[in-house]
Amino acid sequence: MPYAPSSQDVTRLPSWQALNEHRQALDGFNLRQAFVDDPQRFERFSLDDCGLFLDYSKNLIDERTRSLLVDLARDAGLTQAIAALFEGAQINASERRPALHTALRRPLGDRVLVDGEDVMPQVHRALLRMSELVGRVHHGLWRGYSDKPITDVVNIGIGGSFLGPQLVSEALLPFAQRGVRCHYLANIDGSSFQELAAKLSAETTLFIVSSKTFSTLETLKNAQAARGWYLAQGGPEDELHRHFMAVSSNVEAAKAFGIREENILPMWDWVGGRYSLWSAIGLPIAMSIGISNFKELLTGAYRMDLHFQQAPFERNMPVLLALLGVWYGNFWGAQSHAILPYDHYLRNITKHLQQLDMESNGKRVRQDGSALQIASGPVIWGGVGCNGQHAYHQLLHQGTQLIPADFIVPVSSYNPVADHHQWLFANCLSQSQALMLGKSHAEAEAELRAQGLSEDEVQRLAPHKVVPGNRPSNTLVLERVSPGRLGALIALYEHKVFVQSVIWGINAFDQWGVELGKELGKGVYSRMVGSDPSGAEDASTQGLIDFFRSHHRG
Ligand code: F6P
Repeated sequence: MPYAPSSQDVTRLPSWQALNEHRQALDGFNLRQAFVDDPQRFERFSLDDCGLFLDYSKNLIDERTRSLLVDLARDAGLTQAIAALFEGAQINASERRPALHTALRRPLGDRVLVDGEDVMPQVHRALLRMSELVGRVHHGLWRGYSDKPITDVVNIGIGGSFLGPQLVSEALLPFAQRGVRCHYLANIDGSSFQELAAKLSAETTLFIVSSKTFSTLETLKNAQAARGWYLAQGGPEDELHRHFMAVSSNVEAAKAFGIREENILPMWDWVGGRYSLWSAIGLPIAMSIGISNFKELLTGAYRMDLHFQQAPFERNMPVLLALLGVWYGNFWGAQSHAILPYDHYLRNITKHLQQLDMESNGKRVRQDGSALQIASGPVIWGGVGCNGQHAYHQLLHQGTQLIPADFIVPVSSYNPVADHHQWLFANCLSQSQALMLGKSHAEAEAELRAQGLSEDEVQRLAPHKVVPGNRPSNTLVLERVSPGRLGALIALYEHKVFVQSVIWGINAFDQWGVELGKELGKGVYSRMVGSDPSGAEDASTQGLIDFFRSHHRG
């Protein structure tokens, strides 16, 4: 189904212009004061759905901001775009493809057409095959060449074929089934391969080569290394099928690599790599947590899909998060956005959201090819709290940039140790509080005087102690990290990214920029190894190639 993205310039919409004026009017907006003026502010700007509680009251907004942002979403055609996303229209216009990750979590019986064919039966057939495979491994029925059960599953994949599965399987470690350990091999770095291989036995290891295209350099090189290692460890060649399987939409390439057809699970062109953990690319997740938990993950994401489709924009979590991002990026000049999980198990969420957001919305032209005149996706960064508090939070509190942040925190821990979780939670809340409240010059002076410092010292130190405050954040609270809630959380961010792409009029589902580096990489490699005698296009790259050639030892 072709998709006709709106070709309008969003900045010409009356709601955009109204937001511009409103932004000027909010110049002196003070969050501290906003809470004093409105005792209902927390209730007014928070919502609870899909197992997630979102507090967005600590943002530089009032009721009018929300209503103008919602007008903007409507004017930009968001209602139609959401329908197009779920119906399977070709919203990835440059590649003429739909982006149907939402089909992967829909129940059997739903119909989703791609080129006139209902894809739901294939989706559920793949799920059934995953279920059968996982059952065989977990029950010791899938055995290695020496008839021992599989104890280690190694996912070989990179980008979307790595970050999502790794996030989920590590976040759901408390749900891990006994007996099978999950590992991830992504980078083309011999050290990561060797360090992992040293922990494995070829007799009991199953490799999943996870690559939508089956053409990704890092993945193919690691898959070759794994095969070489298996053979060098004494694994018989004719038993390779007990140790290698693949998930790919390129069945021919996987077969050419030597993987048996019955060991290849499908992927489809209509699922983007960074949106693929819900497909058979999620096989290592299911291997780790079992198929019922994997289905719970899908159900959680499906609940968020329904919320996204049905909730009015004023009470729609992904829409609100997206609009807040637009508000800061396009009207306040914010260039980055911090993702700060306060949970050990969620520590990889920043890396996954980084790919999801930056590979999707790191674009400079609109769907129709015209240059975008406003900022698109921000830099996504961050990491686990409290660790970040002792590293980069300083810049959030006193740096010169406005950096909105999302705090993500569970109410309860799977591993209570004394009062650690209470302290973890308290730290999370106090960080968003400190960002909002800050410390005025008068407060800094009073504090220093109370310490008995001389007036000279007070005046010398006070400016350094001032924390401007008024810095915005969202807090997402979940009871505990469960498969369902995690599914909803990830789907929330997927939809947030989509909404922003609609507002900016860009394509969130292609990634042409990544290709240039891949192409140039081949030329650089040929020159480094001497198979191409010609010089590099520029003196810097050539100088570095020469340095490599004269110093390389292994
Ligand atoms: O980095 C570009 C990219 O195409 C990502 O979008 C994708 O997730 C990753 O490479 C891996 O691709 P594949 O699954 O085809 O190996």
